Amino acid sequence: MANTVNMSQYNEQAERRKQERRKQGKMRLSTATVTRDNRETIGNVTVPDYRIRCTDINVFYGDKHAIRNITLDIGRHEIIAMIGPSGCGKSTFLRCLNRMNDTIENCRVTGKIMMDNQDINDKSIDVVPLRAKVGMVFQKPNPFPKSVYENIAFGPRIHGLAKDKVELDEIVVTSLKRAGLWEEVKDRLDQPGTSLSGGQQQRLCIARTIAVNPEVILMDEPCSALDPIATTKIEELMDQLCADYSIVIVTHSMQQAARVSHRTAYFHLGDLIEVGATEQIFTKPVHQLTEDYITGRFG
Ligand SMILES: Nc1ncnc2c1ncn2[C@@H]1O[C@H](COP(=O)(O)OP(=O)(O)OP(=O)(O)O)[C@@H](O)[C@H]1O
Ligand SMILES: [Mg+2]
Repeated sequence: MANTVNMSQYNEQAERRKQERRKQGKMRLSTATVTRDNRETIGNVTVPDYRIRCTDINVFYGDKHAIRNITLDIGRHEIIAMIGPSGCGKSTFLRCLNRMNDTIENCRVTGKIMMDNQDINDKSIDVVPLRAKVGMVFQKPNPFPKSVYENIAFGPRIHGLAKDKVELDEIVVTSLKRAGLWEEVKDRLDQPGTSLSGGQQQRLCIARTIAVNPEVILMDEPCSALDPIATTKIEELMDQLCADYSIVIVTHSMQQAARVSHRTAYFHLGDLIEVGATEQIFTKPVHQLTEDYITGRFG
């Protein structure tokens, strides 16, 4: 596993900090009304080997300014976790990376998102291949109302990735194997994808995503509906997948962010407050808001 933080060490340090603050009479709850004059993100927002470079991203839903001036690189072969309280803009930011916000009426995105020397927001960009290159796994597993086999074969077929049935079969088998699902479904490829358990459906959706050769995988709370065993399987899978892909995961689980990610980005009310190596964010956060969130005082 990419595990960079020892959770008991993290919990101990958080508890110690909390007690020190209590002693000093500084214990207070952060509130949603916290204001920041200086909106600069703390930490290195850029990395030398980036796959996607986001500069000054703003998203509006009608008049609502949902995220503000987000500048952040997604590194090659990294797992980066997006954390922060509900409504802070994590999903909104994630959806910028494959133009899924285009599907939301009234949603307007500004700023530059560079991938392969092109701004993905450019009008000339075809979103169909973009969304194959930057695949997405949602919170609730959403298999197509088709067989297990067809769930995987559908994408490669529409993207013309297989020249015949033999090649298509191979892609299906390989994708299911890579998603750690093959052994569980090899005898039921003709059954509906929806007949699988929740954890299996989520791995089916991951297999479907990797079947079209993505380069980046976006995961929006992919384990929130899963039990700990299924969650462990997905986390192990992410660890293997990052050898080939960049993974951006939104999670409400501090433990999960600490276990799987290399870098962590903390969002608060539409701002990217702090970004850094996961170990640093969880053991030595710089900004008070980050500390309040990771020690469970806010959010
Ligand atoms: N389709 C939409 N129309 C209008 N406002 C929206 C829409 N989607 C999100 N918002 C608003 O944008 C802000 C950011 O929402 P977003 O869903 O990105 O937050 P989040 O961090 O993913 O929250 P959660 O942890 O609850 O999933 C919120 O204030 C939300 O109400
Ligand atoms: Mg969300």
